[in-house]
Amino acid sequence: MKEQKAQEQPVVVQGAMSVETAELIGAMTETAEEPWGPWRIVRGRLFGHPLVISETQWGMANAAALAAIAIERYHPAALISQGTAGAHDDALNVYDIVLGAQTVNESAWQSHYRPAGAGAPYDDLKKLGVFAWDAEKGEFTQEVEHAADAGLLAAARRAVPRYTRGKVVEGVIGTCDSWNCAIDRVKFLRTFYGSLCEEMEGDAVAQICQSLGVPFLTIRIISNSILHNQDPWDLGTGPACQGFVMEVLKEWWARGEA
Ligand code: 5AD
Repeated sequence: MKEQKAQEQPVVVQGAMSVETAELIGAMTETAEEPWGPWRIVRGRLFGHPLVISETQWGMANAAALAAIAIERYHPAALISQGTAGAHDDALNVYDIVLGAQTVNESAWQSHYRPAGAGAPYDDLKKLGVFAWDAEKGEFTQEVEHAADAGLLAAARRAVPRYTRGKVVEGVIGTCDSWNCAIDRVKFLRTFYGSLCEEMEGDAVAQICQSLGVPFLTIRIISNSILHNQDPWDLGTGPACQGFVMEVLKEWWARGEA
């Protein structure tokens, strides 16, 4: 039994900041610090199941590198990127949660040609997408959106009734190493990419997980909305998001996927 447990594949959960990981780490048993370079990684158990928490710091390169090392080191059954986000949809308020049915890299675009002096308007773009491995085609393909794993998304849906701090919606989550505060640009991103919110990690991790065949989901809590003057951010949302993630994990483990 002990040996069988040691071979169970963990779930990896990423959060960029300690306020996005501390709640999960605090709820774990049998914890061990297993850093990679300067990054904090904590292995342990949650509700008796193997879990790895990875604190990535902000940004796409950090999150993607940490995803790659976690996949190589732990061979996880699934990987979740979770934490705070800014709203693109005016129906969303602080403490609402977005399940990323799709993620999109909002820096992957090509501007249309304009001659010198003709300006560079932020909305004169076409979508480019980023390259990830397509297992069916057997090649890297350039995709604008990456779809969440159906099993993880289903588990998240089953956890929704237990979230009481706001509503839970699903749709596109936009990823970029930027923080948009100009309302017209936020409205453009909402229309152009269909994104409900923006953050700095999700799609970069989705790319790596898709290429390496690891089930992936992004879960984000709205911590700020420039559309509703909800700025600066409310970091009380970090623990609230982790509380929901624990319910998602419970649902996922209950079906025996791990
Ligand atoms: N824009 C971009 N990233 C945001 N985050 C929270 N709100 C926003 C926002 N409005 C998340 C990112 C990153 C850190 C800044 O918090 O994912 O980790």
